[in-house]
Amino acid sequence: GIMHLPDYKEARKRDIRPYQRVVFQEDDKVKNKYQGKTFYLKTYGCQMNEHDSENIEALLTFLGFSKVDDYMDADLVLLNTCSIRENAHNKAFGMLGRLKHLKQEKKDLIVGLCGCMAQEASVVETILKDYKWVNFVFGTHNMYQLPEIIDTAIEENQQQIEVFSREGDLIEGLPVLRVNDYKAYVNIIYGCNKFCTYCIVPYTRGRERSRLKEDVLAEVQKLVDDGYKEVTLLGQNVNAYGKDLYDDYTMANLLEDVAKMGIPRIRFTTSHPWDFTDEMIDVIAKYPNIMPSVHLPVQSGSSRILKLMGRRYTKESYLELFHKIKDRVPGVTISTDIIVGFPGETEEDFLETLDLVRECQYDNAFTFIFSKREGTPACRLADPVSQKEKEERLQRLNEVVNHYFLENNKKLEGREVEVLVEGISDKKHMYYGYSDTNKLINFSSEKELTPGDLVMVKINDAKTWSLDGETVE
Ligand code: 5AD
Ligand code: SF4
Repeated sequence: GIMHLPDYKEARKRDIRPYQRVVFQEDDKVKNKYQGKTFYLKTYGCQMNEHDSENIEALLTFLGFSKVDDYMDADLVLLNTCSIRENAHNKAFGMLGRLKHLKQEKKDLIVGLCGCMAQEASVVETILKDYKWVNFVFGTHNMYQLPEIIDTAIEENQQQIEVFSREGDLIEGLPVLRVNDYKAYVNIIYGCNKFCTYCIVPYTRGRERSRLKEDVLAEVQKLVDDGYKEVTLLGQNVNAYGKDLYDDYTMANLLEDVAKMGIPRIRFTTSHPWDFTDEMIDVIAKYPNIMPSVHLPVQSGSSRILKLMGRRYTKESYLELFHKIKDRVPGVTISTDIIVGFPGETEEDFLETLDLVRECQYDNAFTFIFSKREGTPACRLADPVSQKEKEERLQRLNEVVNHYFLENNKKLEGREVEVLVEGISDKKHMYYGYSDTNKLINFSSEKELTPGDLVMVKINDAKTWSLDGETVE
């Protein structure tokens, strides 16, 4: 069998050697080889993983597998995993527990694991030791080898573990089966070089590699031609786009070029505050099809903690950027991520986070308790605050952020917003979708609508996490 194991020492390395751009070639020997067999794919984690799963589905379909919605009915179960917090780990291992039982009854069941957890040496060690029945593991850097790995695992009937510690080539031309026919993800940059001290992503996703602008623009053009309404440009830090490739072509240039292609809605995520440029703000303000909604993770309101996190900005410089975006982009909404209970966070540090939230009055916020990730620098810091205290801080923080979600939403009552229809809610003629500012809108319509329609909705009632309304003619 093939066998490569991940190694964090290797994964830490960053160099300036240019990556190879390699165009994926289908291996016709395995095309439709598994016709009649079914697969179930479970995705954990972020939009990057969701989009990887769109490639994985296409590769499995190439092998001849067809998709089922219940893992009990599947011949092959694949978990596309996330490492970001312990809880993501626990979910994946919980699922593996259920699959072990299933496999006792269904001996031919093939089980595989891929995604970020596959890049962690400790996870792979556990699989080798205690999960010998797992048929195959592959990492984020060699997803394109899926057909070969699965085929070998089945043919040789022996555990296959193939994970690269380093990023290797940048693969273009992977097949894709998109979940939606009106909104799409487009990768623009892979990996992360920031090494925030709490974060595992630089180890699981490798160094920053931008796709060629021609490749990105060609993919967007195809989406325009296919009638897509919304594109989300993806990267662990999209603001670093182009830095590894070009002297004079940046995220601002790419955003502008994509905007000019005329797709009705453009989003991008995630932005690190450290390299959010004035040029980017100008482009967002200038083009009405770049949605006025920015995700700007702050993580903490204490400059002391930000320094320990390795975030490269202070509370003051974050606020300066925040207000610059608010002032220059009319009607913009800003969302954020916040971690409480970073090692050594004091009550005073935490109160500074609450202060910052009161100043920023975010439209949305994802709040987390610090989770120790093996191999990251923060893992080794003294952490005297109890879990109970951290849970209380999270609760207090959530009360404050929720308050502003509702306050901001109330300002929309009586106003009209543009909504991209995503689907039908439980009741008849009740629809849902997202506004330009990325708010979830539930609404009624006299006219029958289909997902992908853009409609104007009058807001009648604001809630904390959504708004209710009706279409206007
Ligand atoms: N513990 C808790 N939250 C984390 N995040 C990243 N790493 C950790 C960790 N070790 C959060 C950050 C990031 C979001 C995607 O997940 O807030 O922005
Ligand atoms: Fe999870 Fe981060 Fe990997 Fe996304 S990149 S799947 S959030 S660990």
